[in-house]
Amino acid sequence: MTSQTPGTPADRPVVELAGVSKTYGDVAALRGADLVIRRGELLAIVGPSGSGKSTMLNIMGTLDRPSAGMVRVDGHDVADLSDRELSALRAGTIGFVFQQFHLAFGVPALDSVADGLLYSGRSRGERRRLAERALRRVGLGHRLYHEPHQLSGGEKQRVAIARAVLGDPPLLLADEPTGALDSRSGAVVIELLHELHEAGTTVVVITHDRDIAATLPREVRVKDGRIEHDSGEAAAGHSTALVPEGALR
Ligand SMILES: Nc1ncnc2c1ncn2[C@@H]1O[C@H](COP(=O)(O)OP(=O)(O)O)[C@@H](O)[C@H]1O
Ligand SMILES: [Mg+2]
Repeated sequence: MTSQTPGTPADRPVVELAGVSKTYGDVAALRGADLVIRRGELLAIVGPSGSGKSTMLNIMGTLDRPSAGMVRVDGHDVADLSDRELSALRAGTIGFVFQQFHLAFGVPALDSVADGLLYSGRSRGERRRLAERALRRVGLGHRLYHEPHQLSGGEKQRVAIARAVLGDPPLLLADEPTGALDSRSGAVVIELLHELHEAGTTVVVITHDRDIAATLPREVRVKDGRIEHDSGEAAAGHSTALVPEGALR
């Protein structure tokens, strides 16, 4: 693919937004956002409802294209990529978790997760083996054959996270992953995101919960489509401080 940022994969930012705007009709959802996310970061995007958080996440996740500005994901300028190339980049690079778990009714956890690899060319046995490993990783080794209605909200979200990290994507984007959970289940999910981060995944969490945001190493505050505060900005010139040696992959 074209227009890669120079530098080795390890020091190339995972996501770069420069002057990114998005309008829907006459609604300006995002207005000139600048953001650099480095490999191995764990950050919160926080702000009131309607402030543009999901728009920003969808754009950095290549689910949506900007109206203006530059977006690079893993060094690729998304403007240079066709929709097909974009899906390939997304499939190999990004895992998504949403507030709603999107688990199919009546489908056991193991199959819900394994189906994430349906088009990967792997055999059914291999898909299920990897799915089991992912479910064990999120602490659900004892719930492999449970269907969604037999799982708590927190467990359903952990199934969704297992599905998102199945292919071991370097970037995990979570949009209000605790929004539908009680505070205890929410804390378990946030703890799990910390563990994935410690294992090397770059994790971006959208939340409107300022208490959760405050526990994460970097906080980006969005309001009215603009980034009004970024606790990581001051440190951006010292990228080594943001990328612990063990997090490089
Ligand atoms: N697909 C869309 N069509 C029209 N307006 C949208 C669309 N997506 C978001 N918006 C509008 O853009 C603004 C930002 O929305 P969003 O990014 O979802 O905010 P947040 O996630 O912070 O609640 C809101 O005014 C919302 O109504
Ligand atoms: Mg949202």
